[in-house]
Amino acid sequence: MGEAVAAVKKAWPQAKPRLGIILGSGWGEAVSGFTVKAELPYAKIPNLGKAGAPGHAGELLYAELGGKELFIFQGRHHIYEGEGWTPVILPVWILKQFGAQTVLLTNASGGIREDLRPGTLMAIEDHINLLGGSPLTGPHNPAFGERFPDQTAVYDHDLRQALIAAGADASGVYLATAGPSFETPAEIRAFRALGADVVGMSTVPEAVFANALGLKIAGLTCVCNWAAGLGDEKLTAEDVLRTATETMPHMRTVLEGFAERTFRIRQSAD
Ligand code: HPA
Repeated sequence: MGEAVAAVKKAWPQAKPRLGIILGSGWGEAVSGFTVKAELPYAKIPNLGKAGAPGHAGELLYAELGGKELFIFQGRHHIYEGEGWTPVILPVWILKQFGAQTVLLTNASGGIREDLRPGTLMAIEDHINLLGGSPLTGPHNPAFGERFPDQTAVYDHDLRQALIAAGADASGVYLATAGPSFETPAEIRAFRALGADVVGMSTVPEAVFANALGLKIAGLTCVCNWAAGLGDEKLTAEDVLRTATETMPHMRTVLEGFAERTFRIRQSAD
């Protein structure tokens, strides 16, 4: 992961991002209100390679909002791509090495709770890890924090309030599966009984890792479809992206409002 950090440092030695945003499926265009100072394709960042899922552009943006710097990862890797944990958690590691204190993880999900209809933006309050693994598995690396990190409050309360103040419609629990298949209706019934409000295939690895590293974490999901068995239609990646595109103006407003508020919270803490 050191090579990746070195590549970004070489490109932007002076960068001081306070915040990082990782954009998931369908979120790529939600940052059009930010000023982009420079772009670096993932192909130029060792181990990040190309983004391998539809709706993931595969660019790192060095951006600014109201004079404050941030990094925006336009696209993420998933464990279902089969390349292991490194490409999945690398954006979080890069942010940590650049001194960012806060990360916003975005994604698309299927709605399980009744009020979470397609087009809803839900702030993530907590998660359930059904990925079948953790990016912290393996010999303990002290640079990744403690061996047994506490996860009582993975998602920061103030950042969640900032998402709600910026216009997020709801908050709730995100459950991650390894994918890449969508779920069965029986799985969705089981996940509801477990306490899940939405389901997706990402975000939890980055949250587990960022929490271990001591970053402040916010999570925001665009509910793009009713989860399997709850709607009338079969699930497709195209329909997921279509809902995200239709929700884009709202996504933009919430992202910008969140970044402005976060910069303010940080400033008063500095
Ligand atoms: N399940 C899993 N991942 C998803 C879904 C879903 O219904 N919608 C968008 N990403």
